[in-house]
Amino acid sequence: MHEKIKRYKKEIDGFTTEIAEEVDQFRIRFLSKKGLIPSLFADFKSVPPEQRREMGRILNELKGSAQKKLNELRESIESNKVSEKKAIDLTLPTDFSSLGTRHPISIVGNEIIEIFSRIGFTVSEGPEIEDDWHNFSALNFPEEHPARDMQDTFFIEKDPDVSLRTHTSSVQIRVMEETKPPMRALFPGRVFRNEAISARAHCIFHQVEGLYVDKNVSFADLKQTLLYFAKEMFGEETGIRLRPSYFPFTEPSAEMDISCNICGGKGCNICKYTGWVEILGCGMVDPNVFENCDIDSKKQTGFAFGMGVERIAMLKYQVNDIRLYFENDVRFLKQFRSAL
Ligand code: DAH
Repeated sequence: MHEKIKRYKKEIDGFTTEIAEEVDQFRIRFLSKKGLIPSLFADFKSVPPEQRREMGRILNELKGSAQKKLNELRESIESNKVSEKKAIDLTLPTDFSSLGTRHPISIVGNEIIEIFSRIGFTVSEGPEIEDDWHNFSALNFPEEHPARDMQDTFFIEKDPDVSLRTHTSSVQIRVMEETKPPMRALFPGRVFRNEAISARAHCIFHQVEGLYVDKNVSFADLKQTLLYFAKEMFGEETGIRLRPSYFPFTEPSAEMDISCNICGGKGCNICKYTGWVEILGCGMVDPNVFENCDIDSKKQTGFAFGMGVERIAMLKYQVNDIRLYFENDVRFLKQFRSAL
């Protein structure tokens, strides 16, 4: 009997497994009703009385260690199951939903640049804080012009006037002062106006300005360039219409409408039932502007145009409230995806 106990003890102490079935086999072998340990207890009757005390202790010890081993093995299998659940499966596809997207204003701004770059326009930028000369005077704004009024302009300093630029036309002046014709460039950027915020207006918005200066640039060149742009931006079926207008820095000046891309010209509340929507201002560069930049207005002619990016984006995406572009609610922003 001593022999058996020794063997079993060795087997129990040395036993190990991670497999649930083998743990159960261990239990059946040693601890079940007909298992090895209960049968040792059955043999206990034949132990001589003087050895019973000692044998009882050894047997109980053996049973205790078998029970302990069983508990340990069961626990270890349980905790393996839990950590399996927590484990990361590196072969699963990742969740792309948290990937960022470009802001719709960047998407549309880049698209405008891309369309004009295909016909040779380059890109330049100017400062957002501007002096009176570049924002107004050199652009032929008369001294008392209402656009200089406190209502429209965010002034930073008085005498000499420094303000946040009210349009990207100021970059025309900076570029014409530094480079000589021919030039064909776009000036994208943020502009600032002291206006009440509403669904249609914001105090910060984005513009893309265009300038083309060379010998013999004509109004027909302007018109064809803008027609090309409108078709690329809004679709081949898009038509344009130029209405006479006034800007101090262009003569003649015009505002350009595109045929309403929402109702196809039939009339809807976006085009106010006219079939046309205004998208930009344009014109032939005023000779005074050339002279202000030391460019000979007898030799050079040119056209300029300026458009609001938010306005184009509102028409393109049919979003009627400009404020959505500034609130940056991800539920709004994540709807826009683009390769640009
Ligand atoms: N600067 C004008 C504005 O902010 C837009 C504009 C009109 C730009 C006519 C031009 C132009 O270059 O020729 O409203």
